Amino acid sequence: MTFSRLPLAGLCTLLLAAQAQAADDGHKLFTQGGANPAAMACAGCHGADGMGMAAAGFPRLAGLSAGYLAKQMGDFRSGARVNPIMQPIAVALSDDEIDAVTRTLAAMPAPAYPRTGRAEKAEGSGAVLALRGAWERDIPECVSCHGPGGVGVGDTFPPLAGQSAQYLSAQLNAWRQGARKNDPSDLMGQVARSLTDAEVTAVSSYFASLNPQGAAQ
Ligand code: HEC
Ligand code: HEC
Repeated sequence: MTFSRLPLAGLCTLLLAAQAQAADDGHKLFTQGGANPAAMACAGCHGADGMGMAAAGFPRLAGLSAGYLAKQMGDFRSGARVNPIMQPIAVALSDDEIDAVTRTLAAMPAPAYPRTGRAEKAEGSGAVLALRGAWERDIPECVSCHGPGGVGVGDTFPPLAGQSAQYLSAQLNAWRQGARKNDPSDLMGQVARSLTDAEVTAVSSYFASLNPQGAAQ
């Protein structure tokens, strides 16, 4: 019997079974870790719902694009993004495991944030930076790349809404100190190095304070 004579329904079942297997693998990686014991279960730090643990500085992963997440894993592996906790985990995962777990994370439910854009009123230095920028110092408003409300755009621009102030400011400081140099054309490096300490705190608090149900609190 040739392949083309396989009943179509049978072929579909095979494909669906393969997809279901990949989803199972991703979920198992998330809750139990990878084949290599050094690839610890993501849920242990990033939370059972993938929404992170603010106090510990563990970021939200649920609902982030699979492309962005996979890029970060590659950057941890290469050292373009330095972090003593995530680098050994990224190295211990196989390419297939990264593919499966990032797809699972992208499909996990995440709250919707209001799409506050440039036209909205901006009160306080954090909101002004987020919504207007500081063009006299070549700092574009964050929402111009990260999307209205900082909800994220495609595989390139991650969400800032739904991340803790501690995580956001740690990342901005990592760029300022050269521990994170993984962004295309140094876009974020230039933004982060142009911010003062007070501005890093203010803009991080602004995005962390966005309330999924309504306006910023
Ligand atoms: C022991 C705690 C711990 C475990 C377990 C862990 N992570 Fe992380 N993860 C972190 C920390 C801390 C950071 C922040 C790193 C930094 O500041 O750059 C992070 C960051 C990340 C990021 C970057 C997110 C972003 O918004 O850029 C990704 C992606 C990620 N982790 C994926 C995973 C996956 C997938 C697993 C499971 C296979 C996992 N992590 C397991 C602690 C952990
Ligand atoms: C010109 C486009 C651009 C602008 C403007 C911009 N960003 Fe970004 N930002 C990026 C890109 C691209 C990335 C992802 C880099 C990577 O691949 O890791 C990023 C990532 C980040 C991250 C890391 C998020 C995570 O999950 O790890 C933070 C925090 C951040 N930006 C904050 C800001 C803030 C605050 C502003 C405004 C002051 C801002 N960005 C303005 C392009 C931009």
